[in-house]
Amino acid sequence: MIFPRFRIKFVTHSINLYNSYSATAQSKFPRRIFSGIQPTGQIHLGNYLGAVSQWVKLQQNNEDMILSIVDLHSMTLPHDPKTLPNSILEMTATLLACGIDPSKVILFQQSMVPAHTHLSWCLGCISTMARLAHLPTFKEKSANLKDVPLGLYIYPVLQAADILAYKATHVPVGEDQTQNIELTQDLARMFNNRFGETFPIPHCIYTGSEFSRLKSLRDPSKKMSKSDPDPKSRICLNDSPDDILKKIKKSVTDFTSEVTFDPDKRPGVSNLISIHSFVSGRTVEEICGEVQNVNTGKYKLQVAEAVISHVQPIQKRIDDLMSDEEYLAKVLKMGAEKATEISENTLDEVKRKLGLQFRIKSAHQQKINV
Ligand code: TYM
Repeated sequence: MIFPRFRIKFVTHSINLYNSYSATAQSKFPRRIFSGIQPTGQIHLGNYLGAVSQWVKLQQNNEDMILSIVDLHSMTLPHDPKTLPNSILEMTATLLACGIDPSKVILFQQSMVPAHTHLSWCLGCISTMARLAHLPTFKEKSANLKDVPLGLYIYPVLQAADILAYKATHVPVGEDQTQNIELTQDLARMFNNRFGETFPIPHCIYTGSEFSRLKSLRDPSKKMSKSDPDPKSRICLNDSPDDILKKIKKSVTDFTSEVTFDPDKRPGVSNLISIHSFVSGRTVEEICGEVQNVNTGKYKLQVAEAVISHVQPIQKRIDDLMSDEEYLAKVLKMGAEKATEISENTLDEVKRKLGLQFRIKSAHQQKINV
């Protein structure tokens, strides 16, 4: 899918993309992109603006890109085995409907590729409990749990394995993933130092400005999130026009009636302008110029209209794709075959470096050694 007047400016992590690469490392590890998304719940506008739209843009630039539907990650909190298979297919359909082209990138289901869990164990053996306990996503998700599943604690190690299994150099994600990618960098460095240079140090790529951390519609001090118990806090790509309108009308703004963009002082209305800017392909300045005489109540109706007309064609494509499950399964199988080939090579190298492989000497060589 070509985004009409797509104007996202790609910015990179505040660390220069290559500043920790030596010239030799750059040539040793060619640019490769890896990212993933959990097949839990529906894609919301945060996932779409912060991650999926970046992937489509990177694909248009002919990048070497690998994308995973990370089903093993979705087991870190209690899940329903009856609905998960459909969620995986639905996520596949959604990514294709958003413009991901499986002939240009590798798209696969994580659990179909064994190297992820194997490498995760190897990396887990060099991770420390103290380091994992400090990760904000763990703190956030475990805060209200009495019994914290071990999977929730160690999933950032699996995430590091996802990335390093492909020797990926860049990871397009929303800002909430920053600390997990920093852990990946640390593990790559630790492994390289102990066992010899094996992995590149991967870096985040963010979509510009507010898109990398889209806010909740109900509480703009928080990010828009699948795990927020209030469904009115997020707009999902498959929401009906009626739901979209209701959610945007009910979104929290402030007591000032003008529409101005100031993410620090006016996070609610600025969040709506960001969404509007993305779905309409117009800049924040253009939008603010046009709505000078419109109050926030009326402005919300304009935003809702723009969101509805942006998501409706995507919804139609999702429905069409969901009517051909065989095709979706074929896409995932083809992706898994390619992903397995690449990741098994990495795993072989890792096993050799960790001393998990031995070469059997012939009887003749053994005698000479004696
Ligand atoms: P997940 O499934 O929670 O989210 C998928 C992507 O959406 C981004 N995102 C957002 N971006 C902007 N604003 C928001 N409000 C917002 N909410 C979510 C996330 O940053 C993410 O990029 N652990 C990961 C999945 C994963 C992964 C990986 C990612 C597993 N292995 C390897 C990259 C590389 C996660 O749970 O994403």
